[in-house]
Amino acid sequence: MLKGRSLIEPGNFTIEEMDDLFTLAEKIENEEGYLRESCRGKLLATLFFEPSTRTRLSFEAAMQRLGGSCLGFADPGSSSASKGESLADTIRMAASYADAIVMRNPKEGAALLASRYSPVPVINAGDGGHHHPTQTLTDLLTIKRLRGSIKGLTVGFCGDLKFGRTVHSLAKALARYEDVGMVFVAPDELKVPEYIIHLLQKEGIKFLETKSLEEAMPGLDVLYMTRVQRERFFNEEDYIRLKDTYVLNKEKMELAKNELIVLHPLPRVNEIAVEVDTDPRAAYFKQAKYGMYVRMALLSSILGVV
Ligand code: CP
Repeated sequence: MLKGRSLIEPGNFTIEEMDDLFTLAEKIENEEGYLRESCRGKLLATLFFEPSTRTRLSFEAAMQRLGGSCLGFADPGSSSASKGESLADTIRMAASYADAIVMRNPKEGAALLASRYSPVPVINAGDGGHHHPTQTLTDLLTIKRLRGSIKGLTVGFCGDLKFGRTVHSLAKALARYEDVGMVFVAPDELKVPEYIIHLLQKEGIKFLETKSLEEAMPGLDVLYMTRVQRERFFNEEDYIRLKDTYVLNKEKMELAKNELIVLHPLPRVNEIAVEVDTDPRAAYFKQAKYGMYVRMALLSSILGVV
């Protein structure tokens, strides 16, 4: 299906190709043993230059559930990058040992650069504040599974919309679906970048920007909460001032539709109160599990075993 292809940003795959992955992910989830052992003998390199729990562990779980194996590092300090080895050389090495590479890197554009040096597929697991396409596959699969379809939905994004790569990737992907509306809830300092706004305007997508989560809540079908990311700030004072701008709690949930689903790429810090976890509309832990199934679908597809 996607044999030999890299995934650097969601636009690399057509809507039809993503739909095929979602169908495959659902089959993997529901048919015990389906594709298990299909990647026996294959190796996945996981190169994480930034911390991760979900993306790295779900890729490693996905590969192992498909019968394959993983090698790599979770801390660049344990690799020769700490001795000054270039990204290009690190990638050449990983590509000579593995059949595909998953990489997270703090620099925007790092995944694209890696794909230019790699003879094997490169999957972007997050490049700075730029893109996180496998999170987008996770988000779209979750919306499809829990809401039935993406068409016609109004999706609210709340929190750090400036540096949030998951927001940039998902907003760009949603803009390709029919009749989707978006509401961006952020303080002035963390507004969604102009290039996303221009893209939405060019595509004729309905959207609005607001600072009030309370005002936005009643109109939303999906609420995508995000963390204010300490690691992206140059100034600790700005982070402390902005970190608790929005906290989703029971009171705010009362303003929302019964069919709302609340997503979050995780990790969360304070932006979703723990009391919301038991609300049936809280879908963020389910979302993380769908991430493993869609990564199984992606790996089996780019490794050419389906
Ligand atoms: N959603 C996500 O990217 O989580 P991790 O940073 O834990 O991988």
